[in-house]
Amino acid sequence: MQTMIGVIGGSGVYDIDGLEEARWTRVETPWGAPSDEILVGRLGGMPIAFLPRHGRGHVHSPTTVPYRANIDALKRLGVTDVVSVSACGSFREEMAPGDFVIVDQFIDRSFAREKSFFGTGCVAHVSLAHPTCPRLSAVCADAARATGVKVHMGGTYLCMEGPQFSTLAESLMYRSWGCDVIGMTNMPEAKLAREAELCYASVAMVTDYDSWHPHHGEVDITAIIATLGANASHARTLVAGLPQRLEAERAPCPHGCDRALDFAIMTAPD
Ligand code: ADE
Repeated sequence: MQTMIGVIGGSGVYDIDGLEEARWTRVETPWGAPSDEILVGRLGGMPIAFLPRHGRGHVHSPTTVPYRANIDALKRLGVTDVVSVSACGSFREEMAPGDFVIVDQFIDRSFAREKSFFGTGCVAHVSLAHPTCPRLSAVCADAARATGVKVHMGGTYLCMEGPQFSTLAESLMYRSWGCDVIGMTNMPEAKLAREAELCYASVAMVTDYDSWHPHHGEVDITAIIATLGANASHARTLVAGLPQRLEAERAPCPHGCDRALDFAIMTAPD
């Protein structure tokens, strides 16, 4: 099977550079329309699909992003490896604005989103103990380091519903839980990617210290916007560095992401 990268771009990342044979494609799915048309092309000879998570013009809030349609559309296009790029707040002094965190764990506190492809007629319980693909994550970390940003390998991402930011009490609680970063969009995306048997890696780009930090009392929107711009430019360079780090011919995922349903508990009516 041929490797095909799928990039889901978050706030500030609405397209990618250097695509050959690029065209915006409309994809329909049984779950409705994805956030936007999908930019399909070739990068460094490798097929790639890019989907702006919030749509061009940022029309979807974290709650209204059609997560199921997005993952299903990428799967239909032949994507094998999904790279999520998103902005996040930090709970750690050392994970500073401008740094990239290659997330490997999640705590899902979102509550107003459809979270599974299964449930009517056929129920499936996939393992999510390790929700990201270590192979793809390592590739993302290497490509991120090459851009010159500080990269933290591994981190726990608290996914909140939003769209408001956290209260001080929530921020302190999430920090006490051992969370490293906070965002509004990686769940249920990671869960759905696993159900769709896609490798998934998350590049979380720190824009702020949320509200726990004694010297950064609350999320400062002006500072976020300034950092978003720099982060987006590094994200584009990171994406450009992915094809050269991935095999063109896709070997089975050593971690079994592409066979997740083989190990799932499934029920179906007889
Ligand atoms: N995205 C960027 N910064 C964030 C924060 N502090 N909380 C939630 N989502 C974010």
